[in-house]
Amino acid sequence: MKVSIIMTSYNKPHFVGKALRAALNQTMGDFELLLMDDNSDAETQRVIRPFLSDPRVRFYRSGVKSLEERAQKTRYAVLINQAIRLSRGEYITYLTDDNIYHPSRLERMSNYLDERPDVQIVYSSSVTRYVDDNGKIVRTVERPATQVTRMAPCIVDHCSVMHRRSILPEVYRRFGAFWDEDPRYYRLGDARFFWRLNQLWPFHPLPEVLDYNYITTVSLHQQMFSEEKSALIRKLPPQKTCRELRESLAALTGHGT
Ligand code: TYD
Ligand code: MG
Repeated sequence: MKVSIIMTSYNKPHFVGKALRAALNQTMGDFELLLMDDNSDAETQRVIRPFLSDPRVRFYRSGVKSLEERAQKTRYAVLINQAIRLSRGEYITYLTDDNIYHPSRLERMSNYLDERPDVQIVYSSSVTRYVDDNGKIVRTVERPATQVTRMAPCIVDHCSVMHRRSILPEVYRRFGAFWDEDPRYYRLGDARFFWRLNQLWPFHPLPEVLDYNYITTVSLHQQMFSEEKSALIRKLPPQKTCRELRESLAALTGHGT
């Protein structure tokens, strides 16, 4: 098995179907998709159901019920750590329920790693689109992949990386876990994971847009910055910032980029 896609999902009925369709319509077929659903509402489950008959999809649903439980640990980090243990691919890549893969993303990124045995982690350019309640795009930001970097946190997106499975034991040895489940990083879970990776390896660029990330009014990111905090956000501890992560990483590695 070449690639394991680790996808997290929670209550995004208007996006999760599009995200799944784009992941399953890849030009490269040698992959499994671990769909980790955090006990979504009935509407979201209805959207997901038809995809479960695809033999490449492996579906897991958590038993999380209370908001207290949701706030105790960074839920997507918990789900990803479980999925890593279940996964079988030579390469690991990540997907959220509000991100659309380019059709040749898996092919391009896995070829990149196939051709460069010394590269452990590749990242692509990506586009972030902010959408309003009607699904209208109100702002677009491109994140270009231009250089080899030891400063990926808050620059590279969750859904824009692929890494070798073989690096994971060393991450575990060094940090005691793969992704960090500490809820002070709920907003920056991907950046926190990259903070770990970058202490060990740089990220190598594939300068093409290979995923489209949608920030909706229900995404955690929007909720944290909005005036009316949701019930979940109000239960979280004070959140670490990009600046803190990046400054500590620069101090640890001696790299500014
Ligand atoms: P998302 O709301 O998309 O946050 P962001 O603003 O950072 O994009 O959530 C990120 C991922 O976390 C998404 O795939 C859904 C998942 N998630 C859970 O698995 N459980 C939860 O309780 C929450 C709130 C999110
Ligand atoms: Mg999101």
